[in-house]
Amino acid sequence: MSETNIQMVDLKRQYHHLKKEIDTALLSVAESGAYINGSQVNDFADELAKYLAVPYVIPCANGTDALQIALMALQLKPGDEVIVPAFTYAAAAEAVALLGLVPVPVDIDPKTFNMDASKIEMVITRQTKAIIAVHLFGQVCDMEKILTIVKRYKLFLIEDNAQSTGSEYIFSDGTRKKAGTIGDIGTTSFFPTKPLACFGDGGALITSNPDLAKRCRMIASHGQEQKYQHKIIGCNSRLDTIQAAILRIKLKYMDAFTAARVEIAKRYQEHLDFVNNIKIPQTAAFSTHVYHQYTILVQEEKRDDLQLWLKEKGIPTIIYYPFPIHHQEAFKWCIRIAMELTEAEKVCKSVLSLPIHSGMTEDEQMYIINSIKEGLAAIRK
Ligand SMILES: Cc1ncc(COP(=O)(O)O)c(C=O)c1O
Repeated sequence: MSETNIQMVDLKRQYHHLKKEIDTALLSVAESGAYINGSQVNDFADELAKYLAVPYVIPCANGTDALQIALMALQLKPGDEVIVPAFTYAAAAEAVALLGLVPVPVDIDPKTFNMDASKIEMVITRQTKAIIAVHLFGQVCDMEKILTIVKRYKLFLIEDNAQSTGSEYIFSDGTRKKAGTIGDIGTTSFFPTKPLACFGDGGALITSNPDLAKRCRMIASHGQEQKYQHKIIGCNSRLDTIQAAILRIKLKYMDAFTAARVEIAKRYQEHLDFVNNIKIPQTAAFSTHVYHQYTILVQEEKRDDLQLWLKEKGIPTIIYYPFPIHHQEAFKWCIRIAMELTEAEKVCKSVLSLPIHSGMTEDEQMYIINSIKEGLAAIRK
């Protein structure tokens, strides 16, 4: 196997880029002794709210908690149905199922990997109460179509923005809004590989609704409005001060890191477009793309061999995601399947996410590109 230093996301390289600032921030938290709910947590929430142009950001422990807290804040009842994309990370369906709600998957648009908004109405029933629109891989769902549907059927809209912080939805009148700020509640994750990331677990809820903000804040803090006054059932979901301190620094650089990933995506596009047996990702006209992932579609019979070929060349790749939600054993007992989910099933057999991060060098990327071309030519199937 070739020796390379290529990573899917090179976290160490990014740390070294920001080392001075991060080390200072880490030491100042250590010296402060305020490890839980230190001032950095509120400062970070204010700064992220300003960046997103929303009044409320409520930090919490991770992106899965954020989804659970959002669903709890909307006061959905067991048996209520929540529409989720069939192709995504399990967290959305999991939070739904955990609360006794029913996940109802909708098929995706294979060009963008996001839920196919034109198919949502096919699965709506009297029990449908909410939609979780997951902005997958770095671009925003078809929000104008989704907003029309939520209005028509009086549904709540949660945006799972774990993978797309910083991306923008472009409305047909040309106005723009940041992903996560368009529905009733946005949720996000600060897992180390995410577009806005800390050095462990972290998450947040985003909203413009003061009542929902209050409920989310209470739920994340054991249902307390004031200390030791528990008004509603909540949970314990806090962002550590040390993670908030890191996030304040990362937020300042996030757009620059995104711009670097966009450049890398452009180079992939330049060299991989029109290569036989693969399709490069497309960006919808109504969204910008922050390229949390650069996910190509490889001819089904060749995908696993190409992955192995690249591994042997020292190039990591990941299959996000090998199974659609409705094929996961965990959800079989509670899911309601109301439509064919063919596109989601098909892409699971073809997706391959390539390394992409702000510190990737041109030489590393050209090595990846050339190895893909060589691999595709060598694999005889
Ligand atoms: C789309 C999406 N939603 C939710 C989550 C859950 O976030 P966390 O790992 O912080 O709980 C993830 C994490 O991978 C994700 O990719």
